[in-house]
Amino acid sequence: MLYKSLAAGVIAFGLPTFVSATLIFVTSMGTSTDPGFLSTIKYADGKLEVINKQLGICGNNPSWLEFVGDHIYCLDEAWSSISTGSLYNFQVPRNGTNLTLINRLDTLRGPVSSVRYGQNLKGLAIAAYAGGGFQSFDISNPAAPKALQNSTFTISPKPGSDSQQKTSHAHEVVLDPTGNFIATPDLGADLIRIFKVDKNTLSYVESKTVPTPDLSGPRHGAFVKLDSGTYFYVVTELSNEIIGWKVTYNSNGLDLDFGKELFSIPTHGPGSKGIGNTTRASELVISPDNQFLLVSSRFDEKTFDIPDPEDNAAGQIKSDSIINYAIEADGTLSLQQIFAAGGINPRQFSLSKDGSLVVSALQNSGHVALIKRDVQTGNLTEFIGAVHLGGQPTFAKLKE
Ligand SMILES: *[C@@H]1O[C@H](CO)[C@@H](O)[C@H](O)[C@H]1NC(C)=O
Ligand SMILES: *[C@@H]1O[C@H](CO)[C@@H](O)[C@H](O)[C@H]1NC(C)=O
Ligand SMILES: *[C@@H]1O[C@H](CO)[C@@H](O)[C@H](O)[C@H]1NC(C)=O
Ligand SMILES: *[C@@H]1O[C@H](CO)[C@@H](O)[C@H](O)[C@H]1NC(C)=O
Ligand SMILES: *[C@@H]1O[C@H](CO)[C@@H](O)[C@H](O)[C@H]1NC(C)=O
Repeated sequence: MLYKSLAAGVIAFGLPTFVSATLIFVTSMGTSTDPGFLSTIKYADGKLEVINKQLGICGNNPSWLEFVGDHIYCLDEAWSSISTGSLYNFQVPRNGTNLTLINRLDTLRGPVSSVRYGQNLKGLAIAAYAGGGFQSFDISNPAAPKALQNSTFTISPKPGSDSQQKTSHAHEVVLDPTGNFIATPDLGADLIRIFKVDKNTLSYVESKTVPTPDLSGPRHGAFVKLDSGTYFYVVTELSNEIIGWKVTYNSNGLDLDFGKELFSIPTHGPGSKGIGNTTRASELVISPDNQFLLVSSRFDEKTFDIPDPEDNAAGQIKSDSIINYAIEADGTLSLQQIFAAGGINPRQFSLSKDGSLVVSALQNSGHVALIKRDVQTGNLTEFIGAVHLGGQPTFAKLKE
């Protein structure tokens, strides 16, 4: 929700004040002492301000938001539930406060990511981490979203596998550029699961799986369409790597093929060392111009000391990293920059539509940081600030 059109109107009438506000919506996981919450941060005149905080409104473990018109769909992992998670649907006033619950649907257990698909983006697919599954909804009528299909996956754990690889853990849903396929990294199974969707009926079938190396733990990914073809990149949480494939479609577009890996590099760059065994790579984002790929690294040993972005006068804090790569014409990556994420445990971050801002959710720092990005060079340049919310921020995105 951007008030730029209003600002433009104000300028057109030659009035002295320029008012431009942007809203950032945030989810925060509950802790043993605090309930989970949804919050709204207003960014105006270079300043960040918390204008809304609604405790427990999306259950205790909100993980992900989807913006659809004046509605926000929120996933609740609901850790205390042994059988289901939730998909909440809220109506949001223009000023970003007072979210109103419209309805709530059961989901598979532990939902962590959603994506819109199908004609007019009337479908919503979700990945369920705890339940190891994939599920679809029809959200064409926000007054009455409907559950469609769901699938859960059974795996045989590999020898030496981590505690996160005893069962399937679908971690993200990623729509391909044709809109016909959704890729789902399965962290538990070392697989990318490919679902072929019907844009009209919203039905889906699991069409194939693409393996990642043993014990890699694929977490988040993205497709990129370049002049030289379509590519898929995934970041692996357990082996802390980025893997790329060139994706080809058969002539009628009814099937896609990942072929063999194009490359695999450590998250901190080719040949990099010093990533500790507690390091857990997390988010992967492509810049709006398709020229840069950014990943976040949690609990890494390349920790930065930075002035506290909440208040520069408050001294230094430790920070994990966001690693910034240029995407070359042939789909390979060149390390460009390693920048501070703004605190500890950058579980998720997102870019503004014009690529000039990075919003970073720092789960263990209890804050959300805003970083300036130079859209020409692709470099992150400076901290605008950070705002303290408490709890454990798990997702933050500008609604624009
Ligand atoms: C925001 O808008 C809602 C609905 O229009 C209204 O109830 C609320 O008072 C507004 N809040 C602020 C802070 O303006
Ligand atoms: C909306 O939020 C404001 C500020 O938090 C609060 O004072 C007001 O009571 C709320 N209004 C409604 C209708 O919930
Ligand atoms: C999954 O699908 C089955 C079969 O249609 C249905 O019984 C079940 O309620 C669904 N589960 C959820 C969590 O929606
Ligand atoms: C992590 O690394 C340290 C030092 O190399 C080692 O002592 C520890 O056992 C390792 N922990 C795990 C869980 O692998
Ligand atoms: C981008 O950042 C990297 C790493 O700090 C630096 O070497 C490079 O010169 C920067 N590029 C530009 C165009 O500023």
